[in-house]
Amino acid sequence: MSYDILLKKDKYKQFHLKGNPFVKTSAEAMTEEEILETLVFTAEDESIATNIDIVLSGGGATLSLVGDYGTGKSVRAVAIADTFKKHEGIVFLCKVPSGDPSRYARALFESVCPEALSLELPVEDKDFIFEIRDYYKNLTIKNLELNSHKAGKDLANVFLVLSRNNYSTCFIIDEFEELVSAGNEKEIREAFTLTREYLSRVHGLKKHMTVICSSPKSWQMVKEVHPAVISRIMAEIEFEDLDNDTAVDLVGKRLKIYREGNPPDYLFPFTREVVEKANEVAYNNPRYLLVILRSTLEAALKRTTSQRIELKDLDTGIRLARGKLSTSILKRLREELTTRELDIFLKICEKFDGGPVFASQLAESLDIDQGNISRYLNKLSKVGYLNQNREGQKVLFEAKELYKVVFAKKKVIKLEPQENKNEK
Ligand SMILES: Nc1ncnc2c1ncn2[C@@H]1O[C@H](COP(=O)(O)OP(=O)(O)O)[C@@H](O)[C@H]1O
Ligand SMILES: [Mg+2]
Repeated sequence: MSYDILLKKDKYKQFHLKGNPFVKTSAEAMTEEEILETLVFTAEDESIATNIDIVLSGGGATLSLVGDYGTGKSVRAVAIADTFKKHEGIVFLCKVPSGDPSRYARALFESVCPEALSLELPVEDKDFIFEIRDYYKNLTIKNLELNSHKAGKDLANVFLVLSRNNYSTCFIIDEFEELVSAGNEKEIREAFTLTREYLSRVHGLKKHMTVICSSPKSWQMVKEVHPAVISRIMAEIEFEDLDNDTAVDLVGKRLKIYREGNPPDYLFPFTREVVEKANEVAYNNPRYLLVILRSTLEAALKRTTSQRIELKDLDTGIRLARGKLSTSILKRLREELTTRELDIFLKICEKFDGGPVFASQLAESLDIDQGNISRYLNKLSKVGYLNQNREGQKVLFEAKELYKVVFAKKKVIKLEPQENKNEK
């Protein structure tokens, strides 16, 4: 037997593609080149560019990129880094590790010091950075107590040195939410204090930019713990829902890097209709959209005919993507909700098919006091997982479409009336 019959390569050919363009669903899985080629600019990018302009013309800026898992923060980090490098700027990137603040400190210094030491600097400056690096590297190994004020100050000092030596620098701190997901309250505060110390000291530092990528919840927490400093110095860029035009562009650009031959149009074998529906189901989140389209294309490969992708294929694709979607959605839900809230939310999806359901029905079924359940339901609505609709005196609660599809296994695509008729 040859593996030939199992190879999908030739199957992609019918769609004028070299492979599945939607396999890579995070910045980390992509090369820098792929990221830059597929990035679609949105309103957020205008604000980012404004800030880069400020820094490249000699000023200082601090920005936070705030968005849920998969909204495109890390791809922006790569694009910012690329722009800086093109203008002779030096870029430092730290992916925040989960765990205690000492590890956070170590990761910050390790992402800055080695690179800084490779630059041309006076001996005394190099010695200074060398010592700092040595200190924080050993902190975790020797299990020494972290002084978070001092650490924030030391970190800022490295950039002060580089600025004094005329370097343009950009420090990107990605996955800031890792601090919150793993630590206990005291640890989180320590890490925040370090960050605050650093930020207040680099505030206005010439030719320096700090970029922090965070989930909305973690960012909210920092703001609550250190309101004054954070609100004073931040340009906050919040990622909005992916609109349909951007979604279509994103799909078009992805397809383009996997193209071969001459397709009838740039979206082939997809159509605007399919992309828009997928975007709706994906809750306007780029990563979920990619995950859904990946399985949809896979589903289309299994057919014997090679016509365009239809809503039927999207429906199959969504069913295939459920496992992956639920893993990543659960990750986010766990970060945002308490165990109790999550439990109730999943019950609504699983036991009540996502609703609509009255608070009284849930109270009875889950054996929870009606007052309590109402509190939970209001919270779930407030953070955007449930919709509320009034029916007479009472309120009906219903999970949003994406959650119904993933957890309640709801069929999403209602086939056109035309096709229904044919089936009868
Ligand atoms: N504006 C955009 N243009 C093109 N692709 C995007 C855009 N936003 C997100 N993506 C894609 O979505 C995926 C998730 O993006 P990523 O930056 O990893 O998200 P985050 O860091 O916010 O979790 C990536 O594969 C990326 O290519
Ligand atoms: Mg990321």
